[in-house]
Amino acid sequence: MDKQGSQLIRGLEGVVAAETRLCDLDGTHGRLAYAGYDIEDLARRATFEEVCHLLWWGELPTAAQLDKTTLALIAARAIPKELIQAFGLVPKDTDPMRVLQAAVAMLGMRDPDATDNSRAANLRKAVRLTSQLATAICAHHRVRSGQEPVAPAADLSHAANTLYMLTGRRPTAVVAKAFDASLTLYAEHELNASTFTTRVIVSTQSDMHSAVAGGVGALKGPLHGGAGEAVMRTLMEIGEVKNVDAFTQKALAEKRRLMGFGHRVYTAGDPRAAILRGMAEEACRQSGQFKWYEMAVKLHERVHAAKTLIPNVDFYSAPLFYSLGIPVDLFTPVIAAARIAGWTANIVEQHDDNRLIRPRGDYVGPTRRAFGPLDTRG
Ligand code: ACO
Repeated sequence: MDKQGSQLIRGLEGVVAAETRLCDLDGTHGRLAYAGYDIEDLARRATFEEVCHLLWWGELPTAAQLDKTTLALIAARAIPKELIQAFGLVPKDTDPMRVLQAAVAMLGMRDPDATDNSRAANLRKAVRLTSQLATAICAHHRVRSGQEPVAPAADLSHAANTLYMLTGRRPTAVVAKAFDASLTLYAEHELNASTFTTRVIVSTQSDMHSAVAGGVGALKGPLHGGAGEAVMRTLMEIGEVKNVDAFTQKALAEKRRLMGFGHRVYTAGDPRAAILRGMAEEACRQSGQFKWYEMAVKLHERVHAAKTLIPNVDFYSAPLFYSLGIPVDLFTPVIAAARIAGWTANIVEQHDDNRLIRPRGDYVGPTRRAFGPLDTRG
C-alpha cells in the first residue's frame, strides 16, 4: 500500500533525481555544457584547472582566481608516504582501480577535514583529492613496475604533471594539451552511474572520501568508465585494419556487446566522442601509431551502419590514451582522475540541498510463508 502510484523504472531510465547547476546534457541534440559553457569551447580553450574552478565555484576564474586555484592544486599534490609504502604491499597484478579505491579510503584517514561536510571543507577536500588522486595513480603504477615514484613538478600544469609523474618524462606541449583537453571532456557528466553513487552516499550525510571511494567502484565497471580499456583490448584483438570487417560481422552475429558504443542519454551522438576523434587522429599520427585510429574509424563506420549505435566518450579516448603512452589498465584510473572534479562538485551540490536518496524495490519473491525450524527443512 505504501508504494501506491509508484512505477518500476528499470535502470532509473529517464528519472530526474536532482537539480544541478553543473552539467547541461541535451541527449537528443548531442549537446553538453558545464555551468553554461559549451564543452567544445572548454576542451579547446580552457585548461583543466579553469574547468575545476568553474565546477567548484560556478564561474570561470579571473586571472587572480585561476592563480589561486592552480597554486592550491599544486600545493596538494603530495600523498602520505604511508600510502606509497602500502602500494608496495599490494599484489603487483591488482586492478589499479581496486588500488585507487583503497587509496581514496586511506587518504580519508589522513585528511584534516575528513568528517567535516561544510561547504568550505568540501571545497578544500575537492582540491586535495583532485591532486592526490593523480599522484596516487602514478605512484602506484611506478611502484608496481619496480620504479621509484616521481615527485610532482610544481612548474607543470595538472595534466602535464600527471603525465610526468607517470612516465618520468616531461610531455611536449602538444601532448600535454591533448591530455588536458581529455581531462576536461571527462570532468563532469551529470547523473552518470558513478556520480549518482557519490550523491547517494553523501545523501546519508556521509563524507566526501567515502563517496569518492564508492564512485571509483562504480566507474570501474565495463558498462561505465571501464569501457575505454575494453575498447583498446578490442582494437588489439582485431589487430589490423583489414580484420575489422570480419571482426564486426562475427561480433554482430554473436550479439556481442561492443564496447565504446551506445549511450543511455545521447541518441544523436556524444559530442565528446566527436572532439576526441579529432584528438585521437592527431595523437595517433604524431606517435606513429596511426593504425589504431584507422581501425577505430572503420569499426565505428561498420557498427554504426549495422546497428546505428553511436560511439560514446570511451571509444576514441582509447586510441588517444594509448598513443599518449598511458598503459591500458590505467585508462579507467585516468578517467577517475578527471571525473573527480565532477564528483566533488556534485557532492558539494548534494550537501548544499540534501535529502536522503532512498528509492523503493518492487518485491517479487514468495508470498508470506510459515517459518520452519532447521530440522524440518529440506
Ligand atoms: N553493443 C551492442 N548492442 C548494444 C550496445 C553495444 N555497445 N549498447 C546497446 N546495445 C543494444 C542492446 O543490446 C539492446 O538491444 P535490444 O533492445 O535488442 O536488447 C539495446 O541496445 C539497449 O541496450 P541497453 O543495454 O538496455 O541500453 P542502456 O541504456 O541500458 O545501456 C550502455 C547503455 C550501458 C552504455 C550500453 O550502450 C553499453 O553497454 N555500451 C557498451 C559499454 C560502454 O561503452 N559503456 C560506456 C558508456 S559511457 C561512460 O559511462 C563513460
